[in-house]
Amino acid sequence: MMPGCCPEISVVTRVLTDRDVPLNQLEKVVPLGLADYVGRGGYRALEIASNTPPADIIKQIERSGLRGRGGAGFLTAKKWTMVYPSKGKKYLCCNAAEDEPGTFKDRYLLRVNPHQIIEGVIIAAYAIGASEAYLYINGNYKEEVAFMEQALQASKEAGFWGVPSHGGKPTAMQVVLKICKSPGTYVAGEETALLEVIEGRVAAPRQKPPYYPARRGLFGMPTAVNNVETLANVPHILREGDAWFRGIGTESATGTMIFTVTGDVCRPGLYERPLGTSLHDLIYIDAGGATDRRRLKAVFPGGPSNTLLPVDQINVPLAFDALQAAGSALGTGAVIVMDDTVCMVRIAIQYARFFNRESCGQCPPCVLGTARLAEIMEKIEAGEGTEKDVLLVGELCTMVKGRGYCYLLTGAAIAVESIFRHFRAEYDAHIVGKCRAA
Ligand SMILES: Cc1cc2nc3c(=O)[nH]c(=O)nc-3n(C[C@H](O)[C@H](O)[C@H](O)COP(=O)(O)O)c2cc1C
Repeated sequence: MMPGCCPEISVVTRVLTDRDVPLNQLEKVVPLGLADYVGRGGYRALEIASNTPPADIIKQIERSGLRGRGGAGFLTAKKWTMVYPSKGKKYLCCNAAEDEPGTFKDRYLLRVNPHQIIEGVIIAAYAIGASEAYLYINGNYKEEVAFMEQALQASKEAGFWGVPSHGGKPTAMQVVLKICKSPGTYVAGEETALLEVIEGRVAAPRQKPPYYPARRGLFGMPTAVNNVETLANVPHILREGDAWFRGIGTESATGTMIFTVTGDVCRPGLYERPLGTSLHDLIYIDAGGATDRRRLKAVFPGGPSNTLLPVDQINVPLAFDALQAAGSALGTGAVIVMDDTVCMVRIAIQYARFFNRESCGQCPPCVLGTARLAEIMEKIEAGEGTEKDVLLVGELCTMVKGRGYCYLLTGAAIAVESIFRHFRAEYDAHIVGKCRAA
């Protein structure tokens, strides 16, 4: 891709682009404008949707098998079905808070093709009966927010959304779209923290139950919260059909996913691949394997809130069930690769510190749990730990899993515990003052 130009975008077949995107090209990408988007088949799905009853759109999304790309892999149609029957005011929130280490797919999607997201948001809002939709974007993504503002203005002026009674042209869909900037913290992307921010409060998750967004969401009303990439798939499904979408990927993991490969690989970047693609091939073939002809040591296949896999276990398909069977998860598709020069105790400390810093501070298990984890890890790394401290890491992780208002503490415990389980020898070596990293 030439710097400064827009990559080839196939609006028909790929959510992302026709090419992989190297990490260092990311900021050079110019967004696809409205005329080009329409010229490549954009907003055709909106036309189809406007002639389809909302319940039929949800059925089509159900048949497509689309699952959320924001971390948990929840079935999109199931979420929409929970919101759809409610009468009265409803909301849709498009989650582009994205602040997890190693994840930058949503930023790229916002940047490269904002109209694809707008089209997906309008269709989703129509399907669930939401009269208002929020594009909740990481506030540090300043350029992307500006691009999205321009795209919203252009699509509104073209009559794709809005409220006719407020003047202006007749619109395809009567929905109001607004942008809300997230504070740019990790926890602000959690779906109920998102609701708090949009309502004007600090980013702190709500307790579930009773605050499930589908029942008591934004301003107390039923709300669907979907990730940007999830919604970017929606126009493709409407335009090409659910059978086409199901034909990509595996039986239980349909469509493509955008993988962000970072760490010790030759070609870090974004790779849109069918779900079910081999993790091994993504790393060794697409991303070029380890830098400087080193040996790889371990991989986080689904971002830092999920279990790490040692390199001899990465012959696994990138699919929800396959990764679960391998003891990990697909998460956000953030593939973080480490070679044999990396000290795993050091990685565990960095993660423990990250989760501690990002804890919103409202629930004691999370504040204390993440702080204690970081503290013990630092002691071990400094060579001041004892065997008891090493055992405590494992015990603490087991104890805190499943606690706290949101998944942050569990994610921290799962990640640190997996490093501990697979690389226990490195912890033991630190106790006797030796780091075993190459
Ligand atoms: C600490 C934390 C941070 C999260 N950050 C994000 C985020 O930045 N973007 C996102 O889409 N989902 C994030 N999630 C997941 C959301 O809570 C929610 O499940 C997701 O937006 C639903 O979208 P999906 O069904 O399309 O995947 C986060 C969850 C947790 C626990």
